[in-house]
Amino acid sequence: MTEWQKTNWRNKPRVQMPDYTDADALVKVEAQLSKYPPLVFAGEARRLKQHLGAAGRGEAFLLQGGDCAESFEQFSADAIRDTFKVMLQMAMVLTYGAKVPVVKVGRMAGQFAKPRSAPTEVMDGVELPSYRGDIINELAFTPGARIPNPDKMLQAYTQAAATLNLLRAFSTGGFADMSHVHSWTLGFADGQDVQKYSEIADRIQDSIDFMGAAGITADTTHEFSSVEFYTSHEGLLLEYEEALTRLDSTSGNWLAGSGHMIWIGDRTRQPDGAHVEFCRGVLNPIGLKCGPTTSAEDLKVLMSKLNPENEEGRLTLIARFGAGKAGEHLPRLVKAVKEEGAKVTWVCDPMHGNTIKSATGYKTRPFDSVLREVRDFFDVHQAEGTVPGGVHFEMTGLDVTECTGGVRAVTEEDLSDRYHTACDPRLNASQSLELAFLVAEELTNLRRNRSKRAAS
Ligand code: PEP
Ligand code: CO
Repeated sequence: MTEWQKTNWRNKPRVQMPDYTDADALVKVEAQLSKYPPLVFAGEARRLKQHLGAAGRGEAFLLQGGDCAESFEQFSADAIRDTFKVMLQMAMVLTYGAKVPVVKVGRMAGQFAKPRSAPTEVMDGVELPSYRGDIINELAFTPGARIPNPDKMLQAYTQAAATLNLLRAFSTGGFADMSHVHSWTLGFADGQDVQKYSEIADRIQDSIDFMGAAGITADTTHEFSSVEFYTSHEGLLLEYEEALTRLDSTSGNWLAGSGHMIWIGDRTRQPDGAHVEFCRGVLNPIGLKCGPTTSAEDLKVLMSKLNPENEEGRLTLIARFGAGKAGEHLPRLVKAVKEEGAKVTWVCDPMHGNTIKSATGYKTRPFDSVLREVRDFFDVHQAEGTVPGGVHFEMTGLDVTECTGGVRAVTEEDLSDRYHTACDPRLNASQSLELAFLVAEELTNLRRNRSKRAAS
């Protein structure tokens, strides 16, 4: 194979990327971005890779979550704080279930570019190019708003940098103190309707009290008061990715400096396409979405391209089939991985196969379908003797009404109340935390089955 260069993707077929009309403006923006500092450091990406490797072996569990699409307009410290906060709460509940460290990765600080199912959109007889995320064009349904504008990459970079800065401050500045995090969860598990979760919440509280009595508190123990939090996004807009790619002087390898982990979407995973070509050459952990149309043959080719050295933690396979469909599709892919002896981390995205249109006209996802797909995913891995390594959610800490269901039920009629997503519907704070409790139950069962098997 020829030496990889960060520009080589330009010679490959590309899909889902904008055709910028002003070539000079694009070149200027790329030159500017190339001078800006990378957002992440190679050592961090390597460390995340180790954690993801552990998740692939069942010695850690990945929680990846955040917006479908980050928005310029809805950018606010409160929104970042609330999503970070609910992810910490979820991570604690999952740690309790899994009894292994939970690796926390936000769909944050870079999740701006969106693949779309159709290149154009029709409203009241008017056809316009589709919205492709705030880094590319605008959501407003006017011809001007839909023209791709390269300057938006600079705004995305600035927003990503500010977001990451705040996340780093929250991670180490005292906000992540375990006893605070759990007191928020106790607030949730206090209500009449969530009694069934209060037992786990009480047990976590007992563990915290026990540690406190033994002298392990935020004052004495670094791990009690701070967390490692990583960022990720779909590596879709390759001009942006290329401009932020830097040589890591320690290893001599290339780092995508836009975030710790980048993933390849279900629509851009062509083995000979531009996105695979770009991702294969950077040292970051790479995610690969696997959907109903992913064939075992393609997966084998993709694994050998994206992880030729079979390095643990390098490749995370993100399964997204839809409730009731994992049984049909996941086994063939799990078998392909086994046949190749490939080291991968399997993660479940129960969002993207479960989008429906509600009777009230909103794009939504029923909580029960999301839960069902997670359970299907665990069942297949149980049957195949492989490891369910994590979950990937579209979620927010805000109290939105975008997905239906959950114990504090959002109905189809409620969807219009607080439907704010710029793209796909997200779980709200209560639905996210509830799901964490239910996944923790799955993880507890998994552990019990494992020890039963080991004992027999
Ligand atoms: C996404 O994660 O927002 C997305 C578009 O997913 P997929 O590529 O799996 O459809
Ligand atoms: Co989405």
